[in-house]
Amino acid sequence: MTEAITKKNNVTWFNGYVSREDRETLHGHKGAVIWFTGLSASGKSTIAHLVEKELHQQGCSTYALDGDNVRHGLCSDLVFTPEDRAENIRRIGEMVKLFVDTGIIVLSAFISPYRKDRQKLRSLFHDGQFLEIYVDCPSETCSKRDQKGLYAKAKAGVIKEFTGISAPYEPPEQPDLVIRAYKQDAKAAAEHVVYLIKQRNIIKAD
Ligand code: ADX
Repeated sequence: MTEAITKKNNVTWFNGYVSREDRETLHGHKGAVIWFTGLSASGKSTIAHLVEKELHQQGCSTYALDGDNVRHGLCSDLVFTPEDRAENIRRIGEMVKLFVDTGIIVLSAFISPYRKDRQKLRSLFHDGQFLEIYVDCPSETCSKRDQKGLYAKAKAGVIKEFTGISAPYEPPEQPDLVIRAYKQDAKAAAEHVVYLIKQRNIIKAD
C-alpha cells in the first residue's frame, strides 16, 4: 500500500545527514513511545502526564499526546466508528514515528480499542521503541470517575458507539505492563512506568 502510493507519487524517502542515533546522543537517551491503552476515564492521560513530568524533571526530552487533544486538530474530521478509530490510530502512529525519530520520548494516551490497530502500530517501530501499557479499569469504575459525564450520556444512548458501553474494547494479550488502575493510584502507576523505561534502557538507571 505504502509502496504503491510512493510509486504513484514518484516520491523517495530521503535520509538526512543527522541520524536518529545522533539525535539520541544529543538528548542523552533513546527515542521511544510509551503507548497507554484503556477505556475513557481509566486514568491513561493522568498517568501519561505524570510520567512526562517526572522524565522532564530528570532532563529527558518528552511530549505527551492524548485523544481529546489530537481529535481537536489532526483528527478532527474523524468520528468513533471502527474505521475512523483505525484511521485515528494510523495517523497518530505515523506522527509518533516521526517524533521517535527525533529522539524524544512520547507518552501517548489513546483508547485504541482494537488489537489489530495496535498491532499495526507496533510494526511501525524497532524493537524496544514501543512499550504498550494496558491501563486496566472496569467500565463501572470509569463511569463513576467520569468528570465529562460521557458514560451517563452513552448509557442514555445520547452518545453512540461509546467504548465499554456500546462499542468493544479488546485488551492487549501481551502488554509490556498492566496497570490495575482500580486499585493503584496514578502516582504509584507513573513510578512503575518510569521504572520500566529505565529497565528497558530507554533512559539510564540512576
Ligand atoms: S480512539 O478510540 O480512537 O483511540 P481517542 O483516544 O482518540 O479514541 O478519543 C477518546 C476520547 O474521545 C475519550 O476520552 C472521550 O473523551 C471522547 N469520546 C467521545 N465520543 C466517544 C466514543 N463514542 N467512544 C469513546 N470515546 C469518546
